[in-house]
Amino acid sequence: MRVAALLMAAGRGERLGAADSKQFLPLLGRPVLRRAAEVLLRDGVVDVIQPVCAEAERGRVDSILAGLPARPAVAGGATRQESVRAGLEALAAEGPELVLVHDAARPVVPAGTVAAVVEALAEAEGAIPAQPVADTLKLAEGGAISRTVPREGLHRAQTPQGFRFPLLLALHRAAPAGATDDASLLEAAGHAVRLVPGSEDNVKITYPGDLERMEAAMLPRFL
Ligand code: CTP
Ligand code: MG
Repeated sequence: MRVAALLMAAGRGERLGAADSKQFLPLLGRPVLRRAAEVLLRDGVVDVIQPVCAEAERGRVDSILAGLPARPAVAGGATRQESVRAGLEALAAEGPELVLVHDAARPVVPAGTVAAVVEALAEAEGAIPAQPVADTLKLAEGGAISRTVPREGLHRAQTPQGFRFPLLLALHRAAPAGATDDASLLEAAGHAVRLVPGSEDNVKITYPGDLERMEAAMLPRFL
């Protein structure tokens, strides 16, 4: 196996505040989790998916992903970082060459992005899709601006993020808690991480309204 992809689905979706975790909600008739798995596989460069979810949801995740090249789900942890570590450990025996880490809450990834991330790993130890920041950035406290922050060079990180598997596993085993994404572990250790073009469509469902906006954007393709 050359390329494995972790599908991160152990979160509880507290900011969305729905009765169910967001990865299980329907997006135009199919669970967000299922769509996120399908977009990972679409470019034909991922050999197998390793889902990571809450212990109690393992059976449900396996049935949502039925028919896809996915390993049985493994249990995640209290933080995303702990969940990624659990997924990496589950793949350690097979030892893939490359690993992608993707949020199950990102069910819309344009065609070509996954392949571009994998391609970029020929020249770097890590690669992530990212979007340049478009808005002017204000540093503020208590509703008052203290200054404008230059946005030149600033990017918003998306997933799937791709890495050489042995390196990401080693960095996770050594990492202190608190990393907000996987690329930051490489950055802190001085490894090269390349950017590939992200997309405004690649939204992480986070707040109320995100799922509905995504459905509205997708709907015309079905009419
Ligand atoms: N995730 C995970 N394990 C955790 C926390 C998050 O696998 N302990 C996953 C989520 O399921 C999600 C992705 O990481 O697909 C991005 O996290 P986030 O958007 O923060 O999702 P939640 O943690 O579910 O949402 P919230 O923070 O609002 O509770
Ligand atoms: Mg979270």
